[in-house]
Amino acid sequence: MSYLSFIDFYKNEVKLSFEDHPFSKTPKHVWVICRFRNQWLLTEHPRRGIEFPGGKVEKGETADEAAVREVHEETGAHVKHLSYIGQYKVEGKGGTIIKNIYYAEIKEIIPRESYFETKGPVLMDDLPANLKDNNRYSFMMKDNVLRESIRKIKQTNLF
Ligand code: GTP
Repeated sequence: MSYLSFIDFYKNEVKLSFEDHPFSKTPKHVWVICRFRNQWLLTEHPRRGIEFPGGKVEKGETADEAAVREVHEETGAHVKHLSYIGQYKVEGKGGTIIKNIYYAEIKEIIPRESYFETKGPVLMDDLPANLKDNNRYSFMMKDNVLRESIRKIKQTNLF
């Protein structure tokens, strides 16, 4: 298996791969890099800050279904097309987590009464260059997963 390895914001080891489900066929977490028209679609978490939507796979649900659901709950957006990009594994102090990374093209965003655990959608033309030092952004946006995933999405001509 080929993967990249690096240390994240919390000094945990992360392994990132763009192969087909290299770490688990049934990952318990998902993260979705979203585009709506010519913008990035993110969400604002009250504690972690701005991040791409995502979360945990629920019982009886596939990871792909969780991705579509989390995007909707956290931003009000409906996914037009979902592409699997890769997977990463974090060896944290509290255990190991495995996440699928997706790229989603958004069809429409319909305002919701509530956005579950977040403050709702955030649209941006460009992601800031200095994410690592910016405390408005979530730790999830601060390691190489984001940079490498966007590189992969561009390489694959998804946008
Ligand atoms: P909830 O509060 O129930 O959502 O769970 P939790 O805070 O225990 O978080 P979760 O199980 O999602 O993740 C456990 C730990 O894994 C986090 O504290 C992070 O250290 C790490 N982790 C989770 N998601 C990511 C991620 O996307 N990137 C990186 N680098 N680490 C992550």
